[in-house]
Amino acid sequence: MKFSKKLITWYLHNKRAMPWRTTTDPYHIWLSEIILQQTRVAQGLPYYLSFTQTYPTVFDLANAKEEEVLKLWQGLGYYSRARNLHTTAKYVASKLKGVFPKTYKGLLELKGVGDYTASAIASICYNEVVPVVDGNVYRVLSRYFGITTPINSTKGIKEFKELASELIDHENPANYNQAIMEFGALQCKPKNPYCIVCPFNDSCEALKQAKINQLPVKLKKLKIKKRYFNYLVFIINEKQTIIRQRKGNGIWQGLYEFPLIENQDNVKDSITSNRVFLDMIKKTSYDITPYNDEYIIHKLSHQHLFTKFYIITTKNIPAVEEHQKVVTLEEIHQYPVPILLGNFIDSFFLLKA
Ligand code: ADE
Repeated sequence: MKFSKKLITWYLHNKRAMPWRTTTDPYHIWLSEIILQQTRVAQGLPYYLSFTQTYPTVFDLANAKEEEVLKLWQGLGYYSRARNLHTTAKYVASKLKGVFPKTYKGLLELKGVGDYTASAIASICYNEVVPVVDGNVYRVLSRYFGITTPINSTKGIKEFKELASELIDHENPANYNQAIMEFGALQCKPKNPYCIVCPFNDSCEALKQAKINQLPVKLKKLKIKKRYFNYLVFIINEKQTIIRQRKGNGIWQGLYEFPLIENQDNVKDSITSNRVFLDMIKKTSYDITPYNDEYIIHKLSHQHLFTKFYIITTKNIPAVEEHQKVVTLEEIHQYPVPILLGNFIDSFFLLKA
């Protein structure tokens, strides 16, 4: 049996009885789909009931006070959805005389209605052949077809939408779309799916390849770490400075830089009372001036470096550890340095030259 027919058969036997499944009225379907973007079917039910009881028609919702709508929405989170709901109700009630647009394209014009909601309403209410792709759909399709393209990549979004368009049942898009979402929610669950009793277990790629727990693939949103770098640029007798090579497996391995004091936070701890600085400067007299008042922000893929350079002029060579070296201001140009330091060196030392 075709994938879509098998899915619809499963749905007709297994679907949960929900009030929005006994209507094709676009106001009710729109309400249910907006709520279901925020929560699961079971948790969404009491919200759907209170909204439809309090506002039986789109005119009632349009005439409501915003605070009241927000109150009914309370607990669902993402309150801009509730405000958009209210705005759209007012728009449909006043500008469209209470009649919702009847096509996917027309529905997309409504505030708060994106590709998913427009597809859901157009298919469920008007039998338009437009596939929905939500988290459930990504999971079912990636597993059944063994697709490893990340679902939150541009390529993945396009690939899954195209596949969903090929699979949708042209005779019954309403049931098909609801079937695949319900199948993802009840059978092909994120954790411990019921593969043993699954109607697709003879042809599911993920099951065949023992990849159920690896699919779908989702790119981790990289959390950008902020680091605060304070570089000590010694100018010794106007002709020398101190550099050191970066070791370890962090950033810039093997490149050279000035002695560094790193702070975890944007703390305004005085550089001159820092251990690294004190150990180097000992009792030597010096003069310190910040080169930049505002941070120079250097962006790497995983971290942003908030950088300051401090110019420390002195007549005596500070204490140098074994991994540090004293070089002349000419020699410094020969060392490989990160571009952040290269830019500084170019502008500061060329200015001095
Ligand atoms: N999740 C969101 N909308 C749904 C629907 N109409 N049917 C099943 N699951 C859903």
